[in-house]
Amino acid sequence: MSRDFQNRSRSRSGISQLMDDLGKAMSGSTDMLMLGGGNPAHIPEVQNYIREALERILATEGRFEQMIGNYDTPMGITAFRVAIAELFSNEYGWPITEKNIVLTNGSQSAFFALFNILAGDDKHILLPITPEYIGYADQGLRDDLFIGNKPEIEHLDNQQFKYHVDFETLSLDDSFSAICSSRPTNPTANVLSNAEMTGLLDLAEKHDIPFIIDNAYGTPFPNIIYTEADPFWHKNSIVCMSLSKFGLPSVRTGIVIADESL
Ligand SMILES: Cc1ncc(COP(=O)(O)O)c(C=O)c1O
Repeated sequence: MSRDFQNRSRSRSGISQLMDDLGKAMSGSTDMLMLGGGNPAHIPEVQNYIREALERILATEGRFEQMIGNYDTPMGITAFRVAIAELFSNEYGWPITEKNIVLTNGSQSAFFALFNILAGDDKHILLPITPEYIGYADQGLRDDLFIGNKPEIEHLDNQQFKYHVDFETLSLDDSFSAICSSRPTNPTANVLSNAEMTGLLDLAEKHDIPFIIDNAYGTPFPNIIYTEADPFWHKNSIVCMSLSKFGLPSVRTGIVIADESL
């Protein structure tokens, strides 16, 4: 495994390829709508809210010193985990407490840990619908870690189309140790329907493996979602949230909500 780690770390990353593509697009002669490579929009209302929150911290005796001067507990600061658990249990009835929550340095470091812990030396992670997030390409310590399934493509009017999970071609065996999907997906913005979520969860349960949901853009926050979609959690799911697209990418806060044993 350590040799794999060495080789992977020395090779070209998906993110650096993306940055190359963005650079070339910007320097090309075609008229491009540059939507950026992951930075959230600077929304004045959000930034003012965060500015005021920081000002309150600065004005409160001891809060700033605590914020910059103390290590948090290994699972992440308790008050924040309690607040998140209360939000989800009060608003959505999820049966969770702070014991179901771990904070990480950005959600991508949580994916790195989850993918490799779950897959180990020889199992696969199923991406039930592709295209999927390019950042995952760098998360596996083995080249064959991910196996992706092609989508079913529904053609709509106006040269538009919609991706759906192709349950007909989705086959799982015991070489898989988890299913993972981003919802909405980067870069396609596809949003798995509530029915597709339930279908994937059923499949995961049937094979006794977890269903990882990358909720970086999802509901209830930051809720960059323009279709019908309910927040989703189940004992057998692992919901990964992020504060990055909410407007705090530099703070790199990932929130993993999972069964306590995991
Ligand atoms: C699909 C997806 N997941 C997660 C993230 C956020 O990762 P992090 O929380 O590490 O900033 C991104 C950011 O681009 C993303 O596109």
